[in-house]
Amino acid sequence: MRPLPTRLLPETAETIDGVLHIGGCNTLDLAAEFGTPVFIYDEQHLRNRCREAVEAFGPGVAYATKAFLCGAMARLAHEEGMCLDVATGGELHVALTAGVPADKLVLHGNNKSLAELRLAIEAGVGRIVVDSFDELDRLDALHAETGVVPKVLLRLTPGIKAETHDYISTGQDDSKFGFTVSTGLAEQAIARAQASASVELLGIHAHIGSQVFAVGSLGKAAAAIGEIAVAHDFAEMSVGGGLGVPYVEDERAPTIAEWGKVVTDACRSANVTATISAEPGRSITAAAAVTLYSVGTIKRLDGVRTYVSVDGGMSDNPRPVLYGSGYETFLPRAVLADRPETVTVVGKHCESGDVLVRDGLLPADLEVGDILATPVTGAYGHSMGSNYNKVLRPPVVFVRDGDARLVVRRETYDDLTRLDI
Ligand code: LLP
Repeated sequence: MRPLPTRLLPETAETIDGVLHIGGCNTLDLAAEFGTPVFIYDEQHLRNRCREAVEAFGPGVAYATKAFLCGAMARLAHEEGMCLDVATGGELHVALTAGVPADKLVLHGNNKSLAELRLAIEAGVGRIVVDSFDELDRLDALHAETGVVPKVLLRLTPGIKAETHDYISTGQDDSKFGFTVSTGLAEQAIARAQASASVELLGIHAHIGSQVFAVGSLGKAAAAIGEIAVAHDFAEMSVGGGLGVPYVEDERAPTIAEWGKVVTDACRSANVTATISAEPGRSITAAAAVTLYSVGTIKRLDGVRTYVSVDGGMSDNPRPVLYGSGYETFLPRAVLADRPETVTVVGKHCESGDVLVRDGLLPADLEVGDILATPVTGAYGHSMGSNYNKVLRPPVVFVRDGDARLVVRRETYDDLTRLDI
């Protein structure tokens, strides 16, 4: 029955005559101007989360661009004083093209190619987080070729399982990522990197998983690698990202500031003197955005289910299909209205798995043509989207102080054939 909990909306969200406004813009007008589906990001919300991260972890903190990346987002995070974590040559290219200085970039990846490492070294990225012995071999080869000695951290796998979906849990021993502490690989890698003339080893890194609500496990991981940092007197250590966000009514998550305090306290107890940094992605962007769709079809199956079909789907938000993730839904024309109807919001793709919200609540007067919204879609939606069924990728609009600016345009039919030879 109950209305959408407004705490799931972006920070500047307000309801005027029942209608959702974000960044001083009427969302129904935005849907009319930019079409649907469309991602609407609250720029002030993004900036506030970046500032909170810098406050909590200092200027070495890096925004994990995999959560959401385009030129405007790269520039925003940089303007707010964050470094940027890029995990592929593609993310590196977008960040550099956006004008972010290379020394503010941290390159990640469990299988960086020689070409990606060369690009990073030639550009002069600030840090490379080395993930494997094979990567150390490639860095030796690049040193022989270029003479450059990149600053590196080693990614360690501390054997701490994050309480989250298996697909996004990375700190346990059975993981493709990093140098495993329990098997001795971590110490071997440290010894090799310290003795190497090809790299300058500044410290260590660990990322145990994503969408983690229990900051206790993030603190535990920080303490575990903190001990190793102390033992080797490293100058730097990064605790990765992973802070969870609430997507649905009954979820609660700590703030970035609270996460920062848990990490800092754990490191202080372990007598860590290294500079501590982190790589938040989801906690910066997730709650900053809502996706607006148009309702095209309503199919009522008495006693079974009501299907509400919208003009996007698993191509703009694959998370429900991939991880069984829950989302809320509501009508921006009636934000504070009760939602007595239980519906399943589905997309327009040719498969039954194309579900956006399995058991969503909506007002009873829902009708075809309504603008329907899902909140908390700012992370891993646009970035993991596809054009499956040749559905056009939605545009991205940043709103602030009554202004709406298109930062990524909608894909066109011509875009769909531009790679054909
Ligand atoms: N640092 C490293 C090394 C990472 O692998 C990740 C995320 C992050 C930082 C940022 O983590 P965050 O603060 O966003 O949790 N597609 C999945 C999430 C995959 C996360 C992968 N790595 C999802 O939609 O839930």
